[in-house]
Amino acid sequence: MRVWITLALACVLGSSAFAADTLRPSLLLTARPPAQDLSGRWTYSKDLYRTGLTDINGWPAKPRMERFRDVDVATAEAQGGVGFFEYDLDRGPTMELPGAWNSAVPELRYFDGLMWFQRRFDAVRPQPGQRSFLRFEAVNYRAMVFLNGKEVGRHEGGFTPFVVEVTQALRETGNRLVVGVDSKHDAQTIPGEITDWDLYGGITRPVKLIQAPATFIDDATLRLSDGGHLVGSLQLNGPQSAGQTVSLRIAALGLTLRSRTDASGEARFDTPAPAALKRWSPESPALYDVDFEAGPDRVRDRIGFRTIAVRGSEILLNGQPVFLRGISIHEEEIGPNPARRIDDVAARRLLNEVKEGLHGNYVRLSHYPHSEAMLRAADELGLLVWSEIPVYWTVDWDSPAVLDKARRMQAETIYRDRNRAAIALWSIGNETPVTEARTRFHTALAQTVRALDASRLVSAALLVERNGDTVRIADPLLPQLDVIAVNTYAGWYGDDTLDTVRRLRWDVPVDKPLLFSEFGADAVAGLRDPTVRRKFSEDYQADYYRATLAMAANVPTLRGLSPWVLKDFRSPRREHPVYQNGWNRKGLISETGQRKLAFDVLAEHYRGMQR
Ligand code: GCU
Repeated sequence: MRVWITLALACVLGSSAFAADTLRPSLLLTARPPAQDLSGRWTYSKDLYRTGLTDINGWPAKPRMERFRDVDVATAEAQGGVGFFEYDLDRGPTMELPGAWNSAVPELRYFDGLMWFQRRFDAVRPQPGQRSFLRFEAVNYRAMVFLNGKEVGRHEGGFTPFVVEVTQALRETGNRLVVGVDSKHDAQTIPGEITDWDLYGGITRPVKLIQAPATFIDDATLRLSDGGHLVGSLQLNGPQSAGQTVSLRIAALGLTLRSRTDASGEARFDTPAPAALKRWSPESPALYDVDFEAGPDRVRDRIGFRTIAVRGSEILLNGQPVFLRGISIHEEEIGPNPARRIDDVAARRLLNEVKEGLHGNYVRLSHYPHSEAMLRAADELGLLVWSEIPVYWTVDWDSPAVLDKARRMQAETIYRDRNRAAIALWSIGNETPVTEARTRFHTALAQTVRALDASRLVSAALLVERNGDTVRIADPLLPQLDVIAVNTYAGWYGDDTLDTVRRLRWDVPVDKPLLFSEFGADAVAGLRDPTVRRKFSEDYQADYYRATLAMAANVPTLRGLSPWVLKDFRSPRREHPVYQNGWNRKGLISETGQRKLAFDVLAEHYRGMQR
């Protein structure tokens, strides 16, 4: 039995009526700079049978296996006696964090279970009265956090940040931070057990020690409303939260706004946007330093201001119709052995392939919330973003606990990213098979998104139906979506020839914008077959793109493309010994960044759209 307690479920599960603020995560405003970055070498200890939590026969774990204890094993052993240990995180092997364990050493490639990590550190001394927190940017999939032998927090979900307060548990020197990470997925997790991407278990994004005043800015947001106002809010956390004067300043616009927090510690802002305000767009990604202040606390975020809306079948960016020239991306850095280690350099290398290489203005960051580095790079470079939580293929649609996890994952994503102008769409799922329970689940999720952020568009990547040469979209979820999106693989999966693909006709609702959220074909970089043009050759992939783009040109309400996928990525489902070897080869570039013929087909197509 796994001794895991899923997230404390504060809201009423499964009901559509819920208070959005029960979903508010405390993230200390993600822009807040850390006092200390705990990236680096961590020791680790495998615990495949979770003996550090539960002994055989369900008995309580034995101290000799409890990796989280604040014990110096070598010193204890030197004293002799009857006690002994079957772990020692002080003398264990090390790996570089952040980064997934599957890529760290060959023996861990397919390890799927509980891994214990340890970091010893001396803490930066907090100012008098300051509070201390640990923020984990992502731990895949469940995390259990101990500091100096004391459990200080837990989290479930592999792609969103969480914060634990350590003010009491932190000591000045010799801190022992131990994190149990369980990568196991099942019918109750999001995503479920089977995905078409690698497991990537572990502490995959940075761990930071953050210090803040006793009453601090926990969240602050500002955006441009459709009515041309700058609207936002600021949330204080701490004993002096209510009735406080707070302010925000945009020096570049000569703007200062003041407000007061209410009894719950929240203050609101609303003012006509200054005439000098430059709107954010892919062509002109204008960003402003916004300084939020509350007493001794000051935090700066870098925010772009734009509007996004739908009007009939058009997507409007700053009131003008836009076509999303994009590509889908998995969170893997370019290189032969990706560890899901995405820093600003890795993010820009991927996104410049889209911006400069493909002449794109859009990326689908599939199938889960990507690192904050990726979103900030998209803000800076000027790329619109589709953000998605991993309600992928099948989850337990009938479980209120699973719905609550999805809601919390969505809330953590929105609270982390809602100041990112690049994000235009929140996606609530990918290729989920149509059942009544699934549509109820997604409907509740769509309501959550709208309650948390009514300023962006809601979509989902849907499956299509085929009737001869006609492709139909008749998903009962459509009324909940602002933008329809579908994954279509005619010409790769199934027995369509590329001539058939060119002839396909689409029967789609015409009152909403349509996106092709996926289409793609595998190709091994360097494998040429100009005569027979077999599948898995670059030649076939290029022909497939030409045929699919020709078909797409005949769909009158099509407003965007995010073909599957920018880069070859690891997947345990792809095991052809010549062509795949654990890689999904639908990339337009190989895992080391080698462009394939189809890259230029799409680039030319998008370049032609720019004129
Ligand atoms: C699916 C799925 C992707 C998958 C792709 C493929 O549509 O959304 O995650 O990798 O198809 O089959 O390559």
